Amino acid sequence: MILSIESSCDDSSIAVTEISTKKLLFYKKISQESEHAKYGGVVPELASRLHAVTLPKILEETKEYFGSLKAVAVTNEPGLGVTLMEGVAMAKSLASMLELQLIAVNHLKAHIYSLFIEKESFFPFLALLVSGGHTMILRVESYEKIAILATTMDDSIGESYDKCAKMMHLGYPGGPVIEALAIEGDRDRFNFPIPLINSPLIAFSLSGLKNAVRLQIEALGGAENLTMQDKRDIAASFQKTIIAHLMQKSNKIFEREKIEDFAIVGGVAANRAINDAFDTLCKKHNKRLHSVALQYCSDNAAMVGRYALDAYGKKDFCEISKIESIVSKKDKNRKLL
Ligand code: KG4
Ligand code: ZN
Repeated sequence: MILSIESSCDDSSIAVTEISTKKLLFYKKISQESEHAKYGGVVPELASRLHAVTLPKILEETKEYFGSLKAVAVTNEPGLGVTLMEGVAMAKSLASMLELQLIAVNHLKAHIYSLFIEKESFFPFLALLVSGGHTMILRVESYEKIAILATTMDDSIGESYDKCAKMMHLGYPGGPVIEALAIEGDRDRFNFPIPLINSPLIAFSLSGLKNAVRLQIEALGGAENLTMQDKRDIAASFQKTIIAHLMQKSNKIFEREKIEDFAIVGGVAANRAINDAFDTLCKKHNKRLHSVALQYCSDNAAMVGRYALDAYGKKDFCEISKIESIVSKKDKNRKLL
């Protein structure tokens, strides 16, 4: 069995996966969302302190598996340095105490493998990875071979949902609340510019949209003066613009890439409207759309464990003294290539 640990941001999670059957034997996640909501975003030091309390509590529940473990896997990058440290420290102790192999897991690759927690793996495929930290389209050919086809030049999509919600004092995380408000809103009330619409670049950019939303809120008298309908209409117009941006750039990639399977992974993959738009785009290009079970879209240790199964098969192990957690930097994405 492999025990896996996730602490890259504000979710403390541990899973145990059986190597021979690929079955998830144990899975638990404690989210800190409500603790961070009052600050409108994740406070790294608070997140780190909460991991230090919750991870050992969850670990207690996995003791019955300790005798059967062959490896311990942990997310070591990218993410918040101080929170990654909590998981990495626990994994190092377990590996050395129980004499286990140690597997270092890239968080983005774990999101990609979330696709295979409940179904057989398949390759190759194109993937849209959309989370709080990343927005990219990837060509996934195998465990070893992943290429970035497009990435964001500034903010990520999840981050822009979070900021849009924060500007309207709607708490954190912003994705689910903006999506829910958008259902009741008039998406044509505000005409936010579609990013990079006239640019030949195959890339994403969300910072201009964020600014347009900020200016619109100011024009309506500031967050305190928004009516409920204003908030719904801003949410709907914002989401419509995000979807138009995603469709325009993805369409260009779909015209070029002949691979027939396409998947959406990461926290934002929970968004119904984005899924529906890709469903239509995939039909137009004769591609099959794959989605991740809702409970595994956001950060979790089950996907870390699923990735670790393949790493274990390939003996992709890491020395205890060499594993490092690395603070997220935009150019760290390049490590995937
Ligand atoms: O993958 P994830 O759990 O953490 C990171 O790796 O960043 O993604 C979290 C992000 C947050 O920004 C959150 O607002 C967004 O996913 N999110 C959504 C939805 N549910 C979560 N964004 C749009 N629509 C949703 N339904
Ligand atoms: Zn994530």
